Amino acid sequence: MRVLGIETSCDETGCGIVDESGAILAHLVASQVDVHAVYGGVVPEIAARAHLENLGPLVDQTLRDADLDLSAIDLIAYTRGPGLVGALLVGATYSQALAKSLGIPCRGLHHLEGHLGSALLTEPDLKPPFVVLVASGGHTELLLAQEGFRYRLLGRTRDDAAGEAFDKSGKLLGLGYPAGPVLARWAQKGNRKAVAFPRALLDRPDNLEFSFSGLKTAVSRVVQTHSTGWIEENRADLCAGVEEAIVDVLVKRAGQAIEVTQSEAVVVVGGVAANLRLREKLQEKGRQQGFRAVFAKPSLCGDNGVMLAAIGMQRAKAGIWPENQTVQATMPWDGLEPPFVYPKGNG
Ligand code: KG4
Ligand code: ZN
Repeated sequence: MRVLGIETSCDETGCGIVDESGAILAHLVASQVDVHAVYGGVVPEIAARAHLENLGPLVDQTLRDADLDLSAIDLIAYTRGPGLVGALLVGATYSQALAKSLGIPCRGLHHLEGHLGSALLTEPDLKPPFVVLVASGGHTELLLAQEGFRYRLLGRTRDDAAGEAFDKSGKLLGLGYPAGPVLARWAQKGNRKAVAFPRALLDRPDNLEFSFSGLKTAVSRVVQTHSTGWIEENRADLCAGVEEAIVDVLVKRAGQAIEVTQSEAVVVVGGVAANLRLREKLQEKGRQQGFRAVFAKPSLCGDNGVMLAAIGMQRAKAGIWPENQTVQATMPWDGLEPPFVYPKGNG
């Protein structure tokens, strides 16, 4: 069995093929970063048009890379949300039309569950329950993954997402777009203790919420109260301070989630999972606290089609599918149950 995965939720057109053993037969991403960079952010209308242009040729090339033709595909899995509606509609319409012409099933899946699917390719034997730490440009949340693709929310951000905190701080520090990975590169050359930035809500162990908007305000205050020359001279230290603050919060909260749910693993998903400092510190925390920290391969941390193929394959094997197939800008995880109830006395 082979699943073709299609991702068009934001500014990357992704296409990938995964087989039953979890092997990646092809993985291609057409990035639109350059197209949007001139506007300093993603322009939804332009993204949708670019997906429409890219998708057909990308699917053809993916099949050529895998040395397969369309008759070898048994299922198509695409992102149905959350994301930019125009962009999602391109992927959904394309996928459904292609599947119909081939007479095969087609399923729309949750983008973040797709990220989880790609991380699980590195640990195929990992069985629920485990903690999922989502850290992307639009989301930061902790969930408990349970048997049967059922999820319980443990906590989420009250304001900005972790990736957004990287991007906005980087932008304030003059790093352009997308600033997250650039900030991380600068941070590697800086002193992590030179500038201390806030780590919000960590004194609240009775919930697992995040807040990153204060960090952005703190960075903006530094920028307003110092000269451009000083910012440039101290850019590496400032970036290191920002990265350390975000990573500390994510690691601390992940450790608390493990404790409260008594899980043995945390799977980190979303673009921020590519952050090397996060990988290093969470793995270290796992060694100390006795849990496994699971990450997707760096090449699969960004948005891609393999991740949809991966989660599509897992769901196909279990025969469990979400009912709703409508494209949605915002949507809860499929299989989301009422929030986790904290044990009495926690905190
Ligand atoms: O999951 P993703 O590719 O897109 C969605 O938001 O769905 O995540 C993108 C986010 C951006 O905010 C980007 O700045 C951040 O992931 N990111 C990073 C790194 N690579 C990507 N943040 C910190 N360090 C990185 N190495
Ligand atoms: Zn994503």
